[in-house]
Amino acid sequence: MNKKTVKDIEVAGKKVLVRCDFNVPLDENGHITDENRIVGALPTIKYLIGNNAKVILCSHLGRPKGTFNMKYSLSPVAARLSEKLGIEVKMAADVIGDSAKSLTAALQDGGVVLLENVRFHAEEEKNDPAFARQLANLAEIFVNDAFGTAHRAHASTTGVADYLPAVCGFLIQKEIEIMGGALANPARPFAAILGGAKVSDKIGVIENLLDKVDTLIIGGGMAYTFMRAKGYGIGKSICEEDKTALAAELLKKAEVKGVKLLLPVDTVVAAEFKADAESKTVPSDSLPEEWMGLDIGEKTIALFSDALKDAKTVIWNGPMGVFEFEKFAIGTKKIAEAVANVNGTTIIGGGDSAAAVERLGFAPKMTHISTGGGASLEYLEGIVLPGIACLNDK
Ligand code: 3PG
Repeated sequence: MNKKTVKDIEVAGKKVLVRCDFNVPLDENGHITDENRIVGALPTIKYLIGNNAKVILCSHLGRPKGTFNMKYSLSPVAARLSEKLGIEVKMAADVIGDSAKSLTAALQDGGVVLLENVRFHAEEEKNDPAFARQLANLAEIFVNDAFGTAHRAHASTTGVADYLPAVCGFLIQKEIEIMGGALANPARPFAAILGGAKVSDKIGVIENLLDKVDTLIIGGGMAYTFMRAKGYGIGKSICEEDKTALAAELLKKAEVKGVKLLLPVDTVVAAEFKADAESKTVPSDSLPEEWMGLDIGEKTIALFSDALKDAKTVIWNGPMGVFEFEKFAIGTKKIAEAVANVNGTTIIGGGDSAAAVERLGFAPKMTHISTGGGASLEYLEGIVLPGIACLNDK
């Protein structure tokens, strides 16, 4: 990577503003239900503490729309971080106000303060220069380690880089090295598995990957748009009618480029969209009219798993079915298992597929699980992420 990292700059005794992505899911009692993003940020924070920096952490959480709303407070994150680091992480009551100023001014070397949710200010998402400058005024160095938010050009992800030396942290470095390495120079055969509900979310990814992969596997809700494009009867399955022509074009492109594109050959259909709905497995080219596809069938699992067997690089983004319903999680589970058994580099794009792999217990067997949802998708599309572009070159 050609961007400076936290190791390329002297941090001892310096106030370092670290943008993290602590946008973690909370339950109704405000308890963190998935701490992966916090764990992902620890190497950079520990390095800074160990090298006697004065650490000022900032992040967004949720979409509070520019107003203070304690439902979106980062306090639970400060508490969890304190446990993980074994030192008190002081929680500021604001972002650029008196509390932030006094706590950051009083920081000792190796001390850590977490600012309140940057999205409590509407200026954050507008990338307002005055707000970015006020944030930057709290520190002497900017470290961006928020891979999950690197696709947003906001004040705390890009704006502050106009006022401070700006480098990346270890999480961004790792995400880019692993995902970028796979895209630029993959060990072959290289297979990608795409799923999830909508083709429209993944058009750019498909286009970019068609130039790189040997095999492209399409499952999940988006497969029905491709099946419709092939003239199959898809019953009441989810379908983006306005994207069928594009799906046909992508199928053609794959053929021209010599990419093996696999679609489901059998489908688990349900009478209604319900966890315990009546279901049966049918061939994918003729789904019964009143039924909807909610998972891939056994033959498809075998076909997809076989295509992954000899792969040396696999990227997976998007579940194979409605995995929130136990009955329709089998396809996703079996494909997770097939990916886990791959003897090569396995990369799980963030969001739903990461959650599925975690929930199903396969996480330790994967090479890399991205902490980015939208960010990893944009990265896989080949888009230069603004939160990385703004950092200083080596
Ligand atoms: C995410 O969860 O994908 C990131 O934290 C970005 O959040 P956003 O989509 O609200 O910008």
